[in-house]
Amino acid sequence: MTASDDSRRDLIAALDFHVAAGVDLMLDEHPHDRFSETEAPPRPALPAIEATHTPDTDSPPPRRELPPRGEAPPPARTYGASVAARPGEAAGDARARARDVTTLEELEALLAGFDGCPLKFTAKNLVFADGNPAAKLMFIGEAPGADEDRIGKPFMGRSGKLLDRMMAAIGLDRTSAYVTNIVPWRPPGNRNPTPQEVAICKPFIERQIELAAPDLIVCLGSPSTQAITGTKDGILKARGRFYPYRVGDREIRALATLHPAYLLRQPLQKRLAWRDFRTLRAALDGKA
Ligand code: URA
Repeated sequence: MTASDDSRRDLIAALDFHVAAGVDLMLDEHPHDRFSETEAPPRPALPAIEATHTPDTDSPPPRRELPPRGEAPPPARTYGASVAARPGEAAGDARARARDVTTLEELEALLAGFDGCPLKFTAKNLVFADGNPAAKLMFIGEAPGADEDRIGKPFMGRSGKLLDRMMAAIGLDRTSAYVTNIVPWRPPGNRNPTPQEVAICKPFIERQIELAAPDLIVCLGSPSTQAITGTKDGILKARGRFYPYRVGDREIRALATLHPAYLLRQPLQKRLAWRDFRTLRAALDGKA
């Protein structure tokens, strides 16, 4: 066995490890800890080659050349890096723009053109909403997964099928509910959205709630419950509770429950979700 066989075997093992860990996309040559990102000085503008790439064509962005061996790599840059470095600014920008739109169609168009969230640059599609925007009930999940990213609609994969079955169990379907997420772009590799990404997208989901004007919200899972209700409680404590939520001059309620993806992993917990869905049915019938 030669040294080159060894290094080939090591490389394949490293690749296998990353695939098993859920890595399905390479963003950069160096890792970043997005969770520790805070307000940082602005980074240099993206080079022309990245700035002019239009992601709506099928061709991939041009590859960056690796530096010759032994030479220091250039400073890391990714799509949207300039906004990722200033999440507070991007969230302020999002809030100002969201205030200006007056219909859900305008909000979707605004999101399609919004470059302030770095997730946009790794996602295939904007995942805005599904179901009936005039319904009195709105389900809010966390973020799209691979199926949703491919199709461009929320809750299309296995969790979506379970959500549909849970809705059907209390006489609902997507004509009687509006379905969306707190973050409208898929985080790469299905990781959780970072607090910064949630903060940037929050003004949009708040405006989406205002424009859809439901009577009742169901938060699916912890990130959605915490973003919408402001509670710091974990989902096992928060679930089954109604939280007040202000929409313009109305106060509506947000019910927290378990996320269908969690229920797929922990099927025994479906009994708790079933309790929550019976509470939801009672609330829709004016009995809770
Ligand atoms: N999980 C979510 O939170 N949202 C989706 O749209 C799909 C899976």
